[in-house]
Amino acid sequence: MARYIKEPSRTFSEYLLLPGFTSADCQPSGVSFLTPVVKFSRGEQSALTMNIPLTSAIMQAVSDDRMAIALAREGGISFIFASQPVEDEAAMVARVKNYKAGFVKSDSNVRPDQTLADILALLEKTGHSTVAVTDDGTAAGKLVGIVTSRDYRMSRTPLDTPIREFMTPFENMVYGELGCSLSEANDIIWEHKLNSLPVVDENGRLEYFVFRKDYDSHKENPLELLDAHKRYVVGAGINTRDYEERIPALVDAGADVLCIDSSEGFTEWQKRTLEYTRRRYGDTVKIGAGNVVDKEGFLFLAEAGADFVKVGIGGGSICITREQKGIGRGQATAIIDVAKARGEYFARTGVYVPICSDGGIVYDYHVTLALAMGADFVMLGRYFSRFDESPTNKLNINGNYVKEYWGEGSNRARNWQRYDMGGADSLSFEEGVDSYVPYAGSLKDNVALTLSKVRHTMCNCGALTIPELQEKAKITLVSATSLVEGGAHDVILKDTNINVVK
Ligand code: IMP
Repeated sequence: MARYIKEPSRTFSEYLLLPGFTSADCQPSGVSFLTPVVKFSRGEQSALTMNIPLTSAIMQAVSDDRMAIALAREGGISFIFASQPVEDEAAMVARVKNYKAGFVKSDSNVRPDQTLADILALLEKTGHSTVAVTDDGTAAGKLVGIVTSRDYRMSRTPLDTPIREFMTPFENMVYGELGCSLSEANDIIWEHKLNSLPVVDENGRLEYFVFRKDYDSHKENPLELLDAHKRYVVGAGINTRDYEERIPALVDAGADVLCIDSSEGFTEWQKRTLEYTRRRYGDTVKIGAGNVVDKEGFLFLAEAGADFVKVGIGGGSICITREQKGIGRGQATAIIDVAKARGEYFARTGVYVPICSDGGIVYDYHVTLALAMGADFVMLGRYFSRFDESPTNKLNINGNYVKEYWGEGSNRARNWQRYDMGGADSLSFEEGVDSYVPYAGSLKDNVALTLSKVRHTMCNCGALTIPELQEKAKITLVSATSLVEGGAHDVILKDTNINVVK
């Protein structure tokens, strides 16, 4: 006979936090979001931690190398999408690992025989006024000169003037040598009052530019997440089909942590993938698994060797799994249940397995609730897809800017491996939709605002850390009627929505 679970399946919006005592030293500026990503034994530290509890979803429309760099800069981790050829995913991981903060590959390059008209066309295209002049016109050619807006006068210089006639030639330029550190490069910039410094190799080939304007932005990232070699930390998705090929390629590319990307993790396929990883790499490769929504699913993956367990089925904004298959669980109930199982597992084995709440975060306070209910970090798709850094197109529809956002189970992504039940290599029906989301600007600004709210709420609960929040949080269910009371009501709203980040 079927087993019936008495508790209904509930979402985050059905809960509220009650304030706890806030002492004078409990202030938002004192909140630490430090949180473990991979399992650890009692009394030890997790081998991988994050400075903020946010990860970006393993999705084509969300996590590429650009997103990964932007999020690591703020202290979180992106998991590069797995629904692409192995070599493309590995190349994205490698680009994050090879990214040198402050060192930029030149995107505006010309040959000396081109003309001012070509410079203006490039300026129009890239918006960048510093143009490298290389022997072959590529970003890696031999540097022969540089052009900035100070080298020509629009009103006087004819458009067909060859660049070699007005560029600043290499012999008159100040440049850095490959291998110099960012602070050395910045010292040269300050000493010579430059706006940019080209960095060349021993053969005079252009490698990077360091820009004065980036100096401040680099200093503004106190929480950035770096590995032992000062490179940005990045995660990567894998599937349960081609893991014997994909995992080695991602590990070679430098991925810091992997995660099995699947709509349903309580399967033999996940166990086999985890066993392969442990056989081949022992504990040196970190790998999360999921998704599950209850105690049984959690215990299965924890015992199979997962470094963290991802929780959530059917709650994603683009997800139609519950409609299509009638399977899933309200995200709040799933987290509460799995967090309880994780606590019991920790008490029994001494091993703490972090859990990630994946999908269904709509309001910023849902992040706080997920953490309070026991999640160590959250994974978001829709949230990040709205930002400049997501890989999708920004469009204007009826006067409003939007970005595209589609599910991995949609026909557009065709990520059949994510829904693999061991059968044919194809999607027989969709579990996700293709959609638009309102464009929201830069990741940095939005993450700052979201976390500012989480910090304030944590202080309302008297907590300065995530474990403290989990210990002290008082959480109540809300009635349908009191939900109405929660928003603005019984007033005529003015059409403004202004948030100031503090
Ligand atoms: P969101 O943050 O609510 O947009 O949810 C993102 C999460 O939805 C992802 O991290 C995945 O776990 C899940 N997801 C991604 N694509 C699909 C899909 O096509 N169908 C169902 N769930 C999906």
